[in-house]
Amino acid sequence: MSASQTDLGTPVVEARDIVAGYLPGVNILNGCSLTAYPGEMIGIIGPNGAGKSTLLKAMFGLVKVHSGEVLLNGEDITHRRTNKLVEMGVGFVPQTNNVFPSLTIEENLRMGLFLRPKKAQERLAAMWDLFPLLHERRNTSAGGLSGGERQSLAMARALMMEPSVLLLDEPSAGLSPVRQDETFLRTRMINKTGVCVVMVEQNARRCLQICHRGYVLDQGRDAHTGTGRDLANDPKVIELYLGTLATDLDADKPH
Ligand SMILES: Nc1ncnc2c1ncn2[C@@H]1O[C@H](COP(=O)(O)OP(=O)(O)O)[C@@H](O)[C@H]1O
Ligand SMILES: [Mg+2]
Repeated sequence: MSASQTDLGTPVVEARDIVAGYLPGVNILNGCSLTAYPGEMIGIIGPNGAGKSTLLKAMFGLVKVHSGEVLLNGEDITHRRTNKLVEMGVGFVPQTNNVFPSLTIEENLRMGLFLRPKKAQERLAAMWDLFPLLHERRNTSAGGLSGGERQSLAMARALMMEPSVLLLDEPSAGLSPVRQDETFLRTRMINKTGVCVVMVEQNARRCLQICHRGYVLDQGRDAHTGTGRDLANDPKVIELYLGTLATDLDADKPH
């Protein structure tokens, strides 16, 4: 490990050479590694089907890991059951179906804390502070929320357990540009409260702008890693993986 890495402390979460897949004999991840240090916000970008969601699921015990390991604060958590991981401080927000539509907002949040019901009042108060809009509507059913509000609720639910790392799968997908911006800013705010964030994003440009570091995944491998700025400006990354990113960045230049 290099001196600079040592300075960053023990990683909050680390995936080492993960080989994993859904079906026997078919590996989707072919040696994928990712490290998130305390306080970091990490972005995972890459083409459709690269294995981004699969990597998050492998870290959350939802996909069988054939080899490699996942560590949480230095402890091996590979093959741990999902409910154990939640208890240990891993929060996961899947891309879709991430709220219970027939339950109220408050009931959804309480579900997030089912492992520690005594802390409900304290954690609910913290979530109402972070998401005032959810507080206003706490007694309405989650099914009536807009896409952006649902994402907020799903994030809040994961935060109820005070996770040390929050894994987010495409939190801005399907939202209008304004709501996307809100989601990015809120995620940054959550990160600033001390929660390490690892997020998959299809909006590569915004993701690299807002994250401390990024990983470009391709065909189940981490092909490139670096600071958001370095990746966004790396000609190889632009040429091979981020053609659309390059176009997006150009679009931002003043005319
Ligand atoms: N539940 C599943 N069962 C079998 N194959 C899957 C499943 N989910 C995803 N895959 C396959 O795994 C590969 C990577 O998918 P995914 O991790 O969702 O990619 P990404 O999130 O980068 O778009 C794709 O080839 C996809 O078809
Ligand atoms: Mg995906």
